[in-house]
Amino acid sequence: MTPSAEPQPYPRRQWWMAAYSHEVTRALFGTTVLGEKIVLYRTEAGSVVALSGLCPHRMFPLDLSRVVGDTVQCGYHGFRFDPTGRCVEVPSQPEPSPAVLKSYPVIEQGGAVWLWTGEPELADPKRLPDLGAMGLGQAGWGVEHHPRSLLKGRYTLLIDNLLDLSHASFLHEHTIPKAEAVARVPHELIATEQSLNLRRLGCGIPPNPFFKLLFPAHEGSVDQSFDAEYLCPALIRTGGTLYDSASGQPLGTLNFIHAITPETPTSVHYFVMTARNFRTDDPAITALNLKMGQAIQPQDTLAIEAIEAVLSSALPRPVEVSVKADVGAIQVRRRLEAQIRAEAASLAR
Ligand code: FES
Ligand SMILES: [Fe+2]
Repeated sequence: MTPSAEPQPYPRRQWWMAAYSHEVTRALFGTTVLGEKIVLYRTEAGSVVALSGLCPHRMFPLDLSRVVGDTVQCGYHGFRFDPTGRCVEVPSQPEPSPAVLKSYPVIEQGGAVWLWTGEPELADPKRLPDLGAMGLGQAGWGVEHHPRSLLKGRYTLLIDNLLDLSHASFLHEHTIPKAEAVARVPHELIATEQSLNLRRLGCGIPPNPFFKLLFPAHEGSVDQSFDAEYLCPALIRTGGTLYDSASGQPLGTLNFIHAITPETPTSVHYFVMTARNFRTDDPAITALNLKMGQAIQPQDTLAIEAIEAVLSSALPRPVEVSVKADVGAIQVRRRLEAQIRAEAASLAR
């Protein structure tokens, strides 16, 4: 069931999205990932550094400190740390301290900074799903970066939410065009080693103002994909390709890319990006995507935070039941639990 039966709530050998690229500058950017305080900044050459966000001298939060050259200078007594985390200066004495800040491997891809929380020697960029295939950092695609949000709920509730899009017909009844039909569209589960996709294809959807805005020249009905594709605990893609019903030819792809980064065991950073490969410069579509995100996200937040309040309480609750549409969410839970278990087993060896 949703609070995973596993002893640790999340896998650590994983790339997690720490920030949008544009959020990381020459100033210190503080965040918390998997319960650890972290600061991010750019060196003078522009590369991203991620270090522990607590000064080991007297635990001053380093996001209240400053960048000097390529180093971080603690705002309390001025200790300075280089990009590897090594202390290089203690102003009150001639020699630096042997103190070292924990440093985290980072990569910058698809307009985002990805942080590795496992053992640094295992940080392999190939373990990050193919962002370009979804349209991130790819020529010929237009991308919107929706404002990040912080949800007071365990990250598995967000994964559950995204893997069962039948909730669109109820939670987003008035915000997603034609949402009322989604729950009844048949689904199939496409499982590969890299991903689990609970795919729905809505066939023969009559013309409507939403399709007209996306594809003004198109006449007739549209087949629309409602994919829910789990790529790893940090990344889920929804949406997908729209087709001309008559010919089956693709009209374009509109992906919703969801980056999920646990903040603590009961809170999660949530980043949404929309990526499309048609009318990429059309400001009306950009405005529509951003507006939809603005309307949809609070509804998901409300559901997740309300469920977290129940799970965190001592309230008696019924035994969880699942139905056919939960096949994707259940398989994902199994994959995630296997990932956590495999990690714990290899650490115990
Ligand atoms: S707490 Fe950072 S230098 Fe003292
Ligand atoms: Fe939703």
